[in-house]
Amino acid sequence: MIPREIIDEIVFRSDIEQVIGSYVTLKRAGSNFNGLCPFHTEKTPSFTVFPNTKSFYCFGCGAGGDVISFTMRAENLDYVGAVELLAQRAGITLPEDGREGDTGIPRKRIYEMNLAAARFFRECLFDPKYGKEAMEYLTESRRLSSATIKHFGLGFSPNNAWMLTNHMHSLGFTDEELVTGFLCGKSQRTGKTYDYFRNRIIFPIIDTTGNIVAFGGRVMDDSKPKYLNTSDTPAFKKSRHLFALNFAKNNASEQMILCEGYMDVIALHAAGFENAVATLGTAITSEQSRIFAKYTKKVVITYDSDSAGQTAADKAMRLLGEAGLDVRVLKLEGAKDPDEYIKTYGRDAFSRVISESKSGFEYKMDKIISTHDISSAEGRIKAAGEICAVIASYHSGVEREIYIMSAAKRLELSREVLVSDVERIRRRMQRESANKMSRDALMTAKNLDNRVNRDAAKNIRANSAEEAIIGMILIFDELRAEVASGRTELSADDFITEFGRKAFSTICELELGKFGYSKSMLAQTLSIDEVSKLEQLEQNRRKYSANDKNVLEEYIRNLKEEKLNAEKSDDLSFILNSKRNKLREKKDS
Ligand code: UTP
Ligand code: MN
Repeated sequence: MIPREIIDEIVFRSDIEQVIGSYVTLKRAGSNFNGLCPFHTEKTPSFTVFPNTKSFYCFGCGAGGDVISFTMRAENLDYVGAVELLAQRAGITLPEDGREGDTGIPRKRIYEMNLAAARFFRECLFDPKYGKEAMEYLTESRRLSSATIKHFGLGFSPNNAWMLTNHMHSLGFTDEELVTGFLCGKSQRTGKTYDYFRNRIIFPIIDTTGNIVAFGGRVMDDSKPKYLNTSDTPAFKKSRHLFALNFAKNNASEQMILCEGYMDVIALHAAGFENAVATLGTAITSEQSRIFAKYTKKVVITYDSDSAGQTAADKAMRLLGEAGLDVRVLKLEGAKDPDEYIKTYGRDAFSRVISESKSGFEYKMDKIISTHDISSAEGRIKAAGEICAVIASYHSGVEREIYIMSAAKRLELSREVLVSDVERIRRRMQRESANKMSRDALMTAKNLDNRVNRDAAKNIRANSAEEAIIGMILIFDELRAEVASGRTELSADDFITEFGRKAFSTICELELGKFGYSKSMLAQTLSIDEVSKLEQLEQNRRKYSANDKNVLEEYIRNLKEEKLNAEKSDDLSFILNSKRNKLREKKDS
């Protein structure tokens, strides 16, 4: 978790109207700003930014919150991801080491543990008693030099359930630490911990500051699963790391190479392409594409030549393009992946295909043309239609123009025909996306309550009391202090809806914590829809002038009354049911 002081600092230094203003054109309206909502399609602005309370709210679709939850929604990030992005914007460096997970085990401790484990795995690999077969596999089957093996810190986990566990215990690491760091699993039956990686080649994953953050482990035969990877922990998210980035970042100025597998990366580095990285067993994420953008301008994708690899390449192309990178794609002929390609054709051949790599568009055009017979009229028409659809998806007019010209040349068609087809497809796409967005928005406004507070309709009087109470304690510091401290008696159990209980206890916990309540902390525990709902309650409540302690107490009385009634009727239905059951029993006997 990121320390609260830092979050407060980031929020303080992130002007909400500036941050939101970079996504939405805002116009001043009194002390607030209005604009067209970025989360649904609308013609008249119902999206408002309130600089005084550092919040935003859309009266159309109900999206709302603070600068962090805005960023989460707009960039599709989780809480930490959004905070990191805002920190970057505000020029604040986040402390890497001090961050602790929910477990209370400091990141640093996990890094120490991983380092000790990596040493153990390496010793096992180099000790013939344990690592003979693994070493033969790496040097003979995979043809890795001993320098490469050492460079990547490869290791081996023996086929034994407790060797690492015992070793780590002797170094003072506890079961809890080992399980949290995913070095050990815990048997549900016996409660005993056991080594997670067994009989596998170990690939340490190292971050850009040199910490070992995770491991991948590969079997040496065809058994499944081929790889085991460290799962996400509070100290590690695989969507935020790239394998070998610790080396590649220093060789990235011109371009970087993205491949699928650890073994591809290792083969490429060994052959001198030290700008190669891979994702950690998952498809590339937008966070990872931003990492590329941090270190380089151009990325060459060389995924496996099978169809899964090619589908993954399409997604990678899109995400890397969105991050503003110049994306190129390699289609390797005569090998299944870069590792095999280099082994078969050598490094110079790979160098050549890299320099001949195609732009994303050329790659897609080739792929389309290869599936049609463009010597026939019919094939050409089909290919042209598909290529125009690809061109239509580019936002930049210059790009579209350039691609139209190259498509015209390839298909021997006039530029004008293609232009008119592309424009027609663009108009249709715009219509469809507008329709879809307004459908989505309707869903959002109508269903915000359904998604967030399903129990709202069950007891309307109780729910409106809950909404008023929550609205008031969100707005007024003194009322919040009053209920959180217990001076005014109200507890989470008094709430009827689950959402009410959750919201109330989250707010009170923050209030009573060391740093006090802050809107910016809500999204750490609540979903962005729940945060939006709270913003809605706050906005609704602001419309009322009667907002003092007496009013609050009246709502609390109403709520408690309803709760009592609800319990009574629960009792009643229980009694009725049991009477009915008894009657039935009598009948049966
Ligand atoms: P590959 O099957 O292509 O593996 O998966 P590879 O690394 O190229 O290994 P070799 O060349 O067959 O020995 C590509 C990547 O997908 C992830 C790993 O990160 C792997 O490097 N993966 C694959 C898993 O996480 N789990 C699996 O079971 C398989
Ligand atoms: Mn492979």
